[in-house]
Amino acid sequence: MKFFVDTADISEIARLNPSGLVDGVTTNPSLIMKSNRDVREVLADICELVSGPVSAEVVATETEQMIQEGQVLAAIASNIVVKVPLTWDGLKACRALSDQSIRVNVTLCFSANQALLAAKAGAAYISPFIGRLDDLGLDGMDLIAHIRQIYDNYGFATEILAASIRSPFHVMSSALVGADVATVPPAVLRKLAKHPLTDKGLASFLSDWEKTGMSIV
Ligand code: G3P
Repeated sequence: MKFFVDTADISEIARLNPSGLVDGVTTNPSLIMKSNRDVREVLADICELVSGPVSAEVVATETEQMIQEGQVLAAIASNIVVKVPLTWDGLKACRALSDQSIRVNVTLCFSANQALLAAKAGAAYISPFIGRLDDLGLDGMDLIAHIRQIYDNYGFATEILAASIRSPFHVMSSALVGADVATVPPAVLRKLAKHPLTDKGLASFLSDWEKTGMSIV
């Protein structure tokens, strides 16, 4: 499973990148707003730091304008993936941009039928939003599992990018049902490595080692 970080905060990305665990980045208009930076500049900076796919979202709502914005975003760097919303216009833009060899991430997916349409429109990625479904008392993980089954039934190459991830449990569950990618907020990514028994065990080993008076180097 690949990990993307879901942020436009360049300092967070710079801190996490040396771990070798950052396979890509996803942004959206809200994350760009939080970064308080010019959209093209911040995307160019992210693309310089991370060689994997960097999702950049259009804000137009009609196909022709989405295509134009997608072309501008794609020109920023070769690893930009253009994000379009899962609307009828977004699907048409997805087909047009994909036909121009621009990779597209279709976002704001909340049903398996929407995911089926995105795959047929040539999407490189589909982004089902787990947390926002859970917020409504639904089960976001069921959606990921259904999309997995449908894509496998027909051999669609579209990658399932589990989004709106809020907890380590979401990451584990997405991996169990076979999502190709999880896009994870930096704080959640850090939590994945934490376990109180790891900390306790390490403290005990180090305390015993201290008593030996030895050193390894
Ligand atoms: O990748 C989409 C994500 O940023 C949305 O997350 O927590 O705002 O639902 P959230």
